[in-house]
Amino acid sequence: MEHQIKSFDEYLETYKKSVEDPEGFWGEIASSFQWKKKWDKVLDWNFSEPNINWFVGGKLNITENCLDRHLQTRGDKVAILWEPNDPKESSISITYKELHARVSKFANVLKSYGVEKGDRVCLYMPMVPELAIAVLATARIGAIHSVVFAGFSANSLADRINDSSCKILLTADGSYRGSKQIDLKAIADEALATCPSIEKSIVLKRTGNAVEMKDGRDVWWSDSLASAAADCLATEMDSEDELFILYTSGSTGKPKGVVHTCGGYMVYTAYSFSNVFQYQEEDIYWCTADIGWITGHSYIIYGPLLAGATTMMFEGVPTWPDAGRFWEICDKHKVNQFYTAPTAIRALMAKGLEFVSPYKLDSIKVLGSVGEPINEEAWQWYHKHIGKEKCPVVDTWWQTETGGIMISAIPNVTKLKPTYASLPLPGIQPCLVDKEGVKIMENDREGLLCVEFPWPSMIRTTYGDHQRCKNVYFSSFENMYFTGDGARRDENGFYRIIGRVDDVINVSGHRMGTAEVENAINQHSAVVESAVVGYPHDIKGQGIYAYIIASGDVTDLAAFEKEIKATVNKEIGPIAKPDKIQVVPGLPKTRSGKIMRRILRKIASKDVSNLGDVSTLLDPGVVEIIKKGAGLA
Ligand code: PRX
Repeated sequence: MEHQIKSFDEYLETYKKSVEDPEGFWGEIASSFQWKKKWDKVLDWNFSEPNINWFVGGKLNITENCLDRHLQTRGDKVAILWEPNDPKESSISITYKELHARVSKFANVLKSYGVEKGDRVCLYMPMVPELAIAVLATARIGAIHSVVFAGFSANSLADRINDSSCKILLTADGSYRGSKQIDLKAIADEALATCPSIEKSIVLKRTGNAVEMKDGRDVWWSDSLASAAADCLATEMDSEDELFILYTSGSTGKPKGVVHTCGGYMVYTAYSFSNVFQYQEEDIYWCTADIGWITGHSYIIYGPLLAGATTMMFEGVPTWPDAGRFWEICDKHKVNQFYTAPTAIRALMAKGLEFVSPYKLDSIKVLGSVGEPINEEAWQWYHKHIGKEKCPVVDTWWQTETGGIMISAIPNVTKLKPTYASLPLPGIQPCLVDKEGVKIMENDREGLLCVEFPWPSMIRTTYGDHQRCKNVYFSSFENMYFTGDGARRDENGFYRIIGRVDDVINVSGHRMGTAEVENAINQHSAVVESAVVGYPHDIKGQGIYAYIIASGDVTDLAAFEKEIKATVNKEIGPIAKPDKIQVVPGLPKTRSGKIMRRILRKIASKDVSNLGDVSTLLDPGVVEIIKKGAGLA
């Protein structure tokens, strides 16, 4: 495979070149793709607006690079291997040739409903091949996809559709998740009641449940395909034209639409995929993420398909029909690279080795981890019991905003150090700064993680609100992209990600803004005010702890908790439900009204030995009451 680093010396050399001559470095990598017109300049940028342009003037269509480019050499190779929720249902293999045909046909469907270059298409779908096909079909005609994770509620879906005025919604009659069925269409219908921009909704039949189809708006997927033409020329896109929007949570307000563009995203996802997974031509690669998150975008769809890989999609969950499902699938399809989240590893670890021992797992060559810090115990278990101590475990650090993996070991190249993401990939220039923004030059130090030079797949803007992008990422420290994470750099320059330093919590690898969860809780009529913090959770990494001031006496605590959870479920979705709820008479606030979350975080983590100075609080007495209520006094 082209541009794959094979030794540590080569890594050092490549890294050096990428920093000394970024344009030469990325220009050479970009040359291996199919461009309709070559770029005039590799990079034009400033972090002050910010204004980032990669492969300036270049024209391309990313789907030609994912599909058409491979037809000659890999036409009959399996592009997407799909494993259903129910192991009794058959898996499906789609070759590059077939995928090309199905994407082209669905692209024509979108066109027939008036979707044009630049229009937004929302996808709210189960993990079925049609989701990947529709993503690519959208990109093929130059429209912008906005995939919304199918675990979000109607309100969340509506907010996202409205924020970017999507024209079309692609959804399904329902979805399967383990033993559960989710009525996606009913949720979508509820959302669409407040989404005036949606002209059509194309509905895939998956569960076969009876659903209501709204006249004039809803059409069945299969009917829409019936008259669609087979060929669809790929629309010419500028390198900096928008490819997709993906909403993610921040520390304030509503989720923001992170915007990625065509050229840079293509080059970086392919390059990072090829190196981090050391993919070889015959390999079967499996990333267990959902396409509703960035990991699914970059490392189920784009990265692997750009590299001509066989990428597996899994519809189900790791624990159904039992906790051996992942390993059963690895053996069944002879998976070579397996990429999952620490929360899944910890959940499966807790179920015991009896769910692992029936399987050989001898095809696996590389194991990956993503989304949250992987603790030493989980890392060792993964390495020993899944990798049989012969597969490198790569801990990959990145974000929705970075588009691709930034810091990660390269298998059989970089030394492994559990709990350390290790070294930056070529082209990535991370640094640590202190609170004042002064760069920390020494090793063996902790600081705030920033990136001081652009990389091709970086965020370009937040949809419809460029100022927000500037404020959140580029205003904390001059001329730096601020990640929101804290990190440690060891004596060898290896990075360990400590976690978020803002009001974002990471629950099972899902990113949640505390303000967002508080806003949801506050919708309950008996809630006066709430404060949400994260606390260490054995399986989820972080759990959600909610302190709530209620308007009257809460006599039935269990019923109240149930109602609060139902409210959050309705506002955001099940992933945001608080794990612990404590009713409190007040919150620790400074005289200016700011909640001192530091204190709440300590109480939630049962660490009250040193609460720090509470004398600046409006009512210091409230701290003792909260401690007592948490059973800690
Ligand atoms: O805090 C970091 C954590 O996940 C955040 C990004 O979340 P999201 O945009 O949803 O993307 C997740 C998948 C790329 C980061 O700011 N994070 C991600 N990967 C790691 C991590 N924390 C520690 N180690 C990682 N490998």
